[in-house]
Amino acid sequence: QIPTTLLAQVDSSVGGKTAINHTLGKNMIGAFYQPRLVLADTETLGTLPDRELAAGLAEVIKYGLIRDPEFLAWLEQNLEYLLARKPEALAFAITRSCSNKAEVVARDERETGERALLNLGHTFGHAIETGMGYGEWLHGEAVAAGTMMAAELSAILGWLKPSDVARVEALFARAKLPVRGAAMPPEHYLELMRHDKKVEGGRLRLVLLRGLGQAVVSDEASETQITTAIRARLPK
Ligand code: GLY
Repeated sequence: QIPTTLLAQVDSSVGGKTAINHTLGKNMIGAFYQPRLVLADTETLGTLPDRELAAGLAEVIKYGLIRDPEFLAWLEQNLEYLLARKPEALAFAITRSCSNKAEVVARDERETGERALLNLGHTFGHAIETGMGYGEWLHGEAVAAGTMMAAELSAILGWLKPSDVARVEALFARAKLPVRGAAMPPEHYLELMRHDKKVEGGRLRLVLLRGLGQAVVSDEASETQITTAIRARLPK
């Protein structure tokens, strides 16, 4: 794999997931197929459109949120250097993201457990991508808005403080990423989310945050709570 976007360098080129986007759901048809080598040449990012760079930052921020609070703090201090494409900052963020991902995938390649944490914001985000038609929202943009919904839901469950939610929002906003989802009725989100591969036994299993830097997979949220979280993050 020779990834030439930030998103591919920090996420999709690592770990062997290959899949296609189907009108009924994203990444539902695919296979695990490990590359022999991943060559991430950061010079290719020099010509990446700003919007694509920001989309990649959503997945970078994800690693901080799910399992690396020290990296989250580093991102809060250094985000502007990443936006300015400073080579040292980009190299650090890409390496740290890949180490986080490699650690998780090495323990759970086929996603029987821990790997699912890498899907923070993705069940909400996939609903946006599928609902709006692929290509309207970039994957990272949908992940950012979806992560805000997951953060709201974590706050509703009493796991995050409102100030934690505000901290996540501030970081995405600085990265010029959307902090609200697409204008679709919450029922439509739920319908699309029920088709997502993370649904088991009729309960929505979602990646939520017990704290910043501490993601869990949980089916504790009721559909009413999920609807409230989605509604809180619809366009104003
Ligand atoms: N992008 C999530 C994963 O590779 O598991």
